[in-house]
Amino acid sequence: MTKNVLEIEYERYESLNELSVEDRELAEAAVKAVSGAYAPYSKFNVGAAVRLSDGQIITGANQENAAYPSGLCAERTAMFYANANNPDKSMVSIAIAAVKDGQLCGRPATPCGQCRQVMAEYQKVSGRKWTILLYGKKKIIKLSQVDDILPFIFTNLD
Ligand code: THU
Repeated sequence: MTKNVLEIEYERYESLNELSVEDRELAEAAVKAVSGAYAPYSKFNVGAAVRLSDGQIITGANQENAAYPSGLCAERTAMFYANANNPDKSMVSIAIAAVKDGQLCGRPATPCGQCRQVMAEYQKVSGRKWTILLYGKKKIIKLSQVDDILPFIFTNLD
C-alpha cells in the first residue's frame, strides 16, 4: 500500500485588471452572459463563456424549470451550444460568473460535478489543456486544466 497526495495548482487574482487581455475578455463575456439566465427558482444567475480554437466566444446562462431536474447549468448550456453549432472547432477555455441578489458574487462560482465531467470530455476532444476562469468580484481563480477540478476524471476515450 502507498499513500499518495494530489496537489492542485491554481492562480488567484484580486481583480480583472491583473488578467491578460484574452482572459479578461472571456471573464467579462461570462459576466455579460448572466443576463440570459432564467433562474426564477434558485434566483442564482450564472453566466458562462467558452472560447473556441478560432478565438470566437460563445456564451450561455443557466436555465431552470418547474420540474427542477429539467434545468441546465450555464456551463453546459454554453458548451453544448458551442459544440452543436461548431462541431469542427474545439473549445479551449471557459469562464464562469454568478449573480445573487442583483450583485456579482464576491467568491467565484465553481462548476458542479456534471459540468466538470462535460468539460473533461471536451477538453479531451480538443487535445489541449483548458484554461478555466472562475470569476468572483473579490477573488478570481484560474486553473490550467480540467483535471485540477476533477481529479480521477472518468473517461472512456483512452
Ligand atoms: N448553476 C450553474 O449554472 N452553474 C454552476 O456552476 C453552479 C450552479 C446553476 C444551476 C441552478 O440553476 C442554479 O445555479 C442554482 O444551483
